[in-house]
Amino acid sequence: MTTAQNWGDVPAEWKHRHLLGLEDLTADEITLLLNQAERFRDVLTKGSRKIPLLAGKTCVNLFFENSTRTRTSFGLAARRLGADVIEFSASTSSLSKGETIIDTAKNIEAMQIDAMIVRHSCPGAAKLLAQNIASHVFNAGDGPHEHPTQALLDILTIRRRFGKIAGLTVALVGDIAHSRTARSNIWGLKKLGANVILCGPSTLVSKNWEKLGVEVSYSLDRILGRVDVFNLLRIQFERQVVRPFPSVREYAHLYGMDAVRLAKAKSDVLIIAPGPINRGVEITPDVADGPQSAILDQVTNGVAVRMAALWMGIASRQRNDDAFPKSSGSGGGKNTVR
Ligand code: NCD
Repeated sequence: MTTAQNWGDVPAEWKHRHLLGLEDLTADEITLLLNQAERFRDVLTKGSRKIPLLAGKTCVNLFFENSTRTRTSFGLAARRLGADVIEFSASTSSLSKGETIIDTAKNIEAMQIDAMIVRHSCPGAAKLLAQNIASHVFNAGDGPHEHPTQALLDILTIRRRFGKIAGLTVALVGDIAHSRTARSNIWGLKKLGANVILCGPSTLVSKNWEKLGVEVSYSLDRILGRVDVFNLLRIQFERQVVRPFPSVREYAHLYGMDAVRLAKAKSDVLIIAPGPINRGVEITPDVADGPQSAILDQVTNGVAVRMAALWMGIASRQRNDDAFPKSSGSGGGKNTVR
């Protein structure tokens, strides 16, 4: 059985105490995280499920937006590593009494916690906290900006199926404009050498995205035959100011993945989705539950990815990138921007 004693240290090449986004990481660093996640996946699926590498540490799930998978997955990952987990609920907190997010975080931190897992509707929220508190910060989604662990679990799922990322063609389909999953996927996949196609209505994906070295297509039917992986994104109605297409039915007709489209795709095509899925909109139930779909494998891989992120961030002794000074009581740390 794997024990904390014979597990080994965090690789010396890993120098981050937070995980804020994939834009900040190199291809080698992303690969380190994926490789560690593979090891943790073995512990989760074949081993004792628990390895107390973070025993004595405390993580706080600080979620200001709804979540099913990410919150549960981070909480489970921390517990599998032996850490204690505190759940913070924004709706019942003193935020409603006017407290700022930094004050809230500093007060929670004063209870001697080690890490904050943060989801917030504002882009940059996790980075703001990383600059103002002493704890390790893990971005669980900051508005439409980044969702690094979602992209890592997507990429791990793809790598496990194809044995590689470089040279694959991955299409992100749907609401690119409002999707943090899309942005983190683009950074991660491009760094690892994949070809990325963004596909959706022109109101949700503009040609400007091509500046990131990706292809933009407005026709799902035209790209079907040359894609290895379809990542089907949810339409983020909650972030949209105006409705970007006439009706959901029309969207599903043009961009929904169904059995007819799947039959025109490559025979070994992989279907993934970050969830929650809207059956009948971006994906039909037969495709979501069919043999090409790895949607539930993604959820399993998510726990392993988050174990890797938490362990490498919290237990690393080699830090040089984002070494914000330890907060001293209410004075807090100096704001050092990375
Ligand atoms: C994604 C998110 O919250 O950004 N979901 C997730 O984390 N599993 C995508 C979405 O909400 O559509």
